[in-house]
Amino acid sequence: MVSDTYGSTFSRMTPEEAAELVPHGSMIAFSGFTPAGAAKAVPAALAERAKQLHDKGEEYQVSVLTGASTGKDLDEALASADAIAWRAPYQSSKALRGSINKQKTEFLDMHLSHVPQMLAFGFIRQPDFAIVEATDVTPDGRVYLTTSSGISAAALRYAKKVIIEINRAHTPRLSEMHDVAILPKPPHRNPIPIFHPLSKMGTPFANVDPTKIVAVVEHEQSDGVAPFAEPDAVSNKIAEHVVNFLVNELKIGRIPPEFLPLQSGVGNVANAVMAGLGNSEDVPPFYMYSEVFQDALVDLMENGKLLGASTTSLTLSDPQIKRMYDNMDFFAPRVVLRPQELSNNPGVVRRLGVIAINTAIEADIYGHVNSTHICGTQLMNGIGGSGDFIRNAYLSIFVAPSIAKGGKISAVVPMASHIDHSEHSVSVFVTEQGLADLRGLGPIERANAIIENCAHPRYKDYLRKYLKESPGGHLHHDLGKCFEMHRNFIESGEMLPE
Ligand code: COA
Repeated sequence: MVSDTYGSTFSRMTPEEAAELVPHGSMIAFSGFTPAGAAKAVPAALAERAKQLHDKGEEYQVSVLTGASTGKDLDEALASADAIAWRAPYQSSKALRGSINKQKTEFLDMHLSHVPQMLAFGFIRQPDFAIVEATDVTPDGRVYLTTSSGISAAALRYAKKVIIEINRAHTPRLSEMHDVAILPKPPHRNPIPIFHPLSKMGTPFANVDPTKIVAVVEHEQSDGVAPFAEPDAVSNKIAEHVVNFLVNELKIGRIPPEFLPLQSGVGNVANAVMAGLGNSEDVPPFYMYSEVFQDALVDLMENGKLLGASTTSLTLSDPQIKRMYDNMDFFAPRVVLRPQELSNNPGVVRRLGVIAINTAIEADIYGHVNSTHICGTQLMNGIGGSGDFIRNAYLSIFVAPSIAKGGKISAVVPMASHIDHSEHSVSVFVTEQGLADLRGLGPIERANAIIENCAHPRYKDYLRKYLKESPGGHLHHDLGKCFEMHRNFIESGEMLPE
């Protein structure tokens, strides 16, 4: 039963009434990290309001800050209504991607751990509103968050006004998982007391100055997370290479017998890798120190393979979240939900020795990785938390299918057309063709390992020739030719036309 402590303290409104409070040009910090815990009713009403105003010839656009991507009622609805002028730090919405790539929406692609402190430092504009989903809010300003922590605590602290969405679809027992803390500003930061993935250091609720709350809206809508597709043969092959590699590292003692905490990125390949690790008898039960807790992990936790998880979001489809809510006595002590500056904290990732596994769009022969921009120009989603983890991980593993679009695109190219992760941060690159262990290798050794082990056979000769014939110093590159494959693709739709 959800308590109703706010009943007489704050103004209850319909989503439409709350949306009326938000003027054109407002900067809004929404709760949500993936669709998990994202504000739902008010953004949908804002989108409707924008459409009506646009029909009357009036302007209406807002700036949108969140933890990461969101649900359909937020990015997709607002972008479809042409209502997002500025957006940060990550997105995965089709409509919004289109608007960003047409330069209709200004987009800042940011490391996710940076967002709360950027608000604190005043590096990004102060939000006029925080719109945050909660299971409850008390008259003295305790806000009990739902399925994500993300930037919610910082949004509540730094926004001028606050709208709370009480979502009765969630169990109030989520407070047993939350560990909310806001780091002090430098130079007053002490070491972060997280010494184990399940360490706690904060409170089970976020705080807000209750005088800032201008509306409370109630609804009962699930997060609407789409279930993952069954892994395909390519994803399974990639997972097999990763599992074999980690098992071997364990055998030769480079991973300790108790294993190390894992971080796994977004996407279908990453999900297949997690399932592969979970099913391997040679991988001991492990912990996760990650930013998303996805469907496959519910099963792994129930069968004892996943001992515990630190995350900032429970990105679970309706059947999986129901399983969790029905068995909170089991799950609550095994999951910690943290703000993203802690779930993704570089210092903690380095301390715990996290093994980070993320997906690349393309990698070049030296190991520079592009996670975000097709042909260097078209944004896909954003860097997300991948940079927070891989730069500081014990092992930084990137995975990708060796080809895309039926073979017209190679994931291994002479020079990456956009670089999110440099050669200095990437230890292992894996495709379904094989695995290149780049640790301790110089540039030409890395190039040979990536071409021979990871490139698709259709592209190997081209890449070998490029490496051999390009002018050489410490690296070999032909600056007139290094983007020939990308240019071919733009001109003819194939990186290597027949
Ligand atoms: N050139 C052009 N298109 C490419 C491509 C390339 N080199 N590589 C992949 N694609 C296309 C695919 O064809 C597919 O297109 P479609 O949607 O039209 O089918 C799309 O990109 C996604 O590829 P897919 O193989 O389905 O990968 P995915 O779902 O595993 O996502 C990323 C891959 C890189 C887009 C995704 O992992 C991402 O956004 N990563 C960055 C954020 C991140 O790493 N966060 C991690 C912390 S949780």
